[in-house]
Amino acid sequence: MDVSTDRNDIDSWKEVTLIYNSALKQISTKLEILNDEFQHVHRYNPIEHIKSRIKTPESIVKKLKKHGYESTIGNMVRYVNDIAGIRVICSFTSDIYQIAEMISNQSDINVISVKDYIVNPKPSGYKSYHMLVTVPVYLSDRIEQTKVEIQIRTVAMDFWASLEHKIHYKFEGNAPDSIRDQLVECSRIVSDLDARMLSLNKEIQQLGEG
Ligand code: GTP
Ligand code: MG
Repeated sequence: MDVSTDRNDIDSWKEVTLIYNSALKQISTKLEILNDEFQHVHRYNPIEHIKSRIKTPESIVKKLKKHGYESTIGNMVRYVNDIAGIRVICSFTSDIYQIAEMISNQSDINVISVKDYIVNPKPSGYKSYHMLVTVPVYLSDRIEQTKVEIQIRTVAMDFWASLEHKIHYKFEGNAPDSIRDQLVECSRIVSDLDARMLSLNKEIQQLGEG
């Protein structure tokens, strides 16, 4: 937003961030409630932790430019789907699908799209479950259906993604082939580890029941 000196734009940006922040709070609360209930019913927490963020104006402008849109507040809200982003880190792959389903089943949440990069990993080896949802934000004079990108992944997938992100950044997207190959291999190990941890956990639970 090169027009950052414009009072109206600053006010609109403030209002927009207020709305997206409220949407993040709503989704976080919903997730915390589900986690608490899970603890109550199943005696364990599926959620390790939750991180949320609002995309910086610089990176919003960059994304709009990449897709050939002018940097206006209207275009931001319309075309940038991940202004409000929340990342949910779980213990087991099965937790991911349970959380996704519980979120989808809430009547005030509208699921716009789902990308399952666990079943279909990206060529980089990236794995995660992405949902684009809208949640209503109640303002004094209206209700704003607000978009939130939810990324759900295991601790192991998160470990992989954060390292890959650092490497991607360091090489500005052009990492050497050998590094890329190793990342793909590590991603395979992540899947293997997740599968083994899941079955180990099942075994432990069965022992506990016996
Ligand atoms: P973006 O333009 O990046 O938002 O891509 P997209 O619109 O195709 O959405 P997608 O669901 O593929 O990815 C959105 C987000 O997922 C990114 O902003 C990252 O946080 C994460 N992500 C996607 N691919 C990768 C990857 O290869 N490596 C890492 N570390 N993160 C990824
Ligand atoms: Mg993104």
